[in-house]
Amino acid sequence: MKTIKHLTLLLFVTLLFVEVVNVKANTSKRIKNKKAILLVHFGTTIESAQKTLKNIDQVFKSEFPNTEIRWAFSAKFIRKKLRKSGINYDSPEQALAKLGEDGYKKVAVQSLHTIPGSEYNNLKHTVKAFNNMPKGTQTVVLGKPLLFSHKDMINASKALLTNISNKRKSKEAVLFMGHGSHHNANIYYPALQYYISKQDKNTFIGTVEGAPLIEDIIPELKERKIKTVWLMPLMSVVGDHALNDLAGDEDDSWKSRLKQLGFKVKVYNKATADMPQVLDIWVSHLKKIWNNL
Ligand code: CO
Repeated sequence: MKTIKHLTLLLFVTLLFVEVVNVKANTSKRIKNKKAILLVHFGTTIESAQKTLKNIDQVFKSEFPNTEIRWAFSAKFIRKKLRKSGINYDSPEQALAKLGEDGYKKVAVQSLHTIPGSEYNNLKHTVKAFNNMPKGTQTVVLGKPLLFSHKDMINASKALLTNISNKRKSKEAVLFMGHGSHHNANIYYPALQYYISKQDKNTFIGTVEGAPLIEDIIPELKERKIKTVWLMPLMSVVGDHALNDLAGDEDDSWKSRLKQLGFKVKVYNKATADMPQVLDIWVSHLKKIWNNL
């Protein structure tokens, strides 16, 4: 009887030991494979645009539950300006260093930029540098911006048109204001024009700081005998450009310039990141890299 008691006790102790070892192994495995997401936005100083950023955050949190999701702003001048008002956003480099310090070995960085331009390409360098970081991040991967593949162009065109469809009549034109870039990837704007024209001939893509400019688009509006133009931003947040360069009351805003030329102008200042179908594209880009991480 005594031996049986002893054997039972021994078995119990052994099982307990095995369990402890198992828990330990699982914990270290979890730490080793701790994955996180870093969302990188250009950044904005406009207070009212904060709700759009919150919306992005909520969508990603619901698509990637129980996951560490952090933010960084890629524009240095925006971070600097915000700092002066006591608002601190990390640069992508700062955010990745902190993630490494906090034990996240694998990080999926999602670009919330529109085109694969300078901001995206800078981020690509950063992501590369944070791979195999001593005592820090080990595998860091980057998700594509909104417009990248043939499929993105079709889906983005659909998304943009869907969001204005219940407001405008088909004879009314829609003119989107993209940011534009000196980077070669500016070509994505005229490319989007091609794709969106296939879906709707009265839709136009222009830029504030790249090509095509509004000067290039006005003759086309006239040629198509357009009387009413809807103005919309092709930007993830309604920031300074959308509020002032697009829809501002100054003489040189797109709204004023088109009005001066006799067009009837209507503004629908909706950020692309407030369009669920646009968010779907960024989410799908992140899922692609997340599942292989
Ligand atoms: Co700008």
